[in-house]
Amino acid sequence: MDLRVREDFPILRIEVNDHPLIYFDNAATTQRPVQVINAIREFYENLNANVHRGIHYLSREASELYEGAHETLAKFINADFEEVIFTSNTTESINLAAWGWALHHLKMGDRIVTTVMEHHSNMLPWRTVAELTGAKVVYADVDNKGMPKMGELESLVDDRTKIVAISGMSNVTGAIPDVERAIKAAHQVGAVVVLDGAQMVPHMPVDVRKLDADFLAFSGHKMLGPTGTGALYGRKDLLEEMRPAKPGGGTIRDVTLKGVEWAELPWKHEGGTPNIAGGIGLAKAAEYLMKIGMERVREHEKELTRMGLKLLSELEGIILYGPMDVDRRGGIITFNVKGMDPHMVGALLDAQGIAVRTGLHCAHPLHRRLGAEDGTIRASFYLYNTEEEVERFVQVLELIVKGRW
Ligand SMILES: Cc1ncc(COP(=O)(O)O)c(C=O)c1O
Repeated sequence: MDLRVREDFPILRIEVNDHPLIYFDNAATTQRPVQVINAIREFYENLNANVHRGIHYLSREASELYEGAHETLAKFINADFEEVIFTSNTTESINLAAWGWALHHLKMGDRIVTTVMEHHSNMLPWRTVAELTGAKVVYADVDNKGMPKMGELESLVDDRTKIVAISGMSNVTGAIPDVERAIKAAHQVGAVVVLDGAQMVPHMPVDVRKLDADFLAFSGHKMLGPTGTGALYGRKDLLEEMRPAKPGGGTIRDVTLKGVEWAELPWKHEGGTPNIAGGIGLAKAAEYLMKIGMERVREHEKELTRMGLKLLSELEGIILYGPMDVDRRGGIITFNVKGMDPHMVGALLDAQGIAVRTGLHCAHPLHRRLGAEDGTIRASFYLYNTEEEVERFVQVLELIVKGRW
């Protein structure tokens, strides 16, 4: 990766605890380039108005920009404009599919097949909808590296299955399951696949047509966009039959006291005044990533991960989680230091300016399954991280392991 990308990210110049910041918490949220920050500022300074509600100049301009942002996001994942609904994050996106589609299509005895690997946001919405409809959630196990057992998942998918919900990349281990296999198994029985793309879409090329995905949820703030942004891709026919999970202003063509005629896609599913500036900022982030190229982002993260895994596996006292093959793993290194509390390790790294995540990462069942009930330490990379940062991180960790702190 061209190191000049770092110049686009003002926050990377700061010092933390008298050390240059090393930001390795990208799986939680990424940093924003000036292009995104400026797009938001320009909107508020020059074009701010509500969308789709006024005929005045500012409203027209804001509406055009906001619609253009949907076009850009659609291009980013190779979808059509009508198929991309803006949300506030992955959690909201999955909940839209759950409350708008699943609630009205599931019945007693139906199945939702998912995996032990999932983030709570791709687990709890399904459990809640299942409780209300009488459907059952069943889980494919993971192997000792945290990778879902795809054979087991395939055998769980039967003619009672209406939904298969699986993540494109684990936020804990970085494991990249063979989602194509899950999609194929689901489609053989006429089930709908919901892909949790929170860690997938920001870090690798994603083409919803090639994947043959039905729903794909992702977060803007994990791909250089503003917080409070995300999207739900849905196949057009599914979005058309889906009920608005947030009915209200903006979602209708006409309302009488007896009935309602819904607006066209995607607006039917975007209830209320949206996060207009956020959506515009998110489109800038997608443009930025497309200019760099998602293949390059993926390759860069693979290099850093390969290097980090090698260096860490040479250190004594480190327990590594997740697959070692970087073709099946994203830019995430999760580990523990034997005999040390993960939060303590995180605090010692922080004292050296290194930001990592510690704890259970909203995936308690997976941590239990991996025997890491007390949590783990997660270093997660993005396009602006460097080999030098990985080296320094490992050096600091070596001192921690050897008890020199
Ligand atoms: C795999 C995965 N799914 C879902 C989410 C939820 O994302 P958000 O908090 O943006 O809704 C995350 C966030 O870390 C995640 O990593």
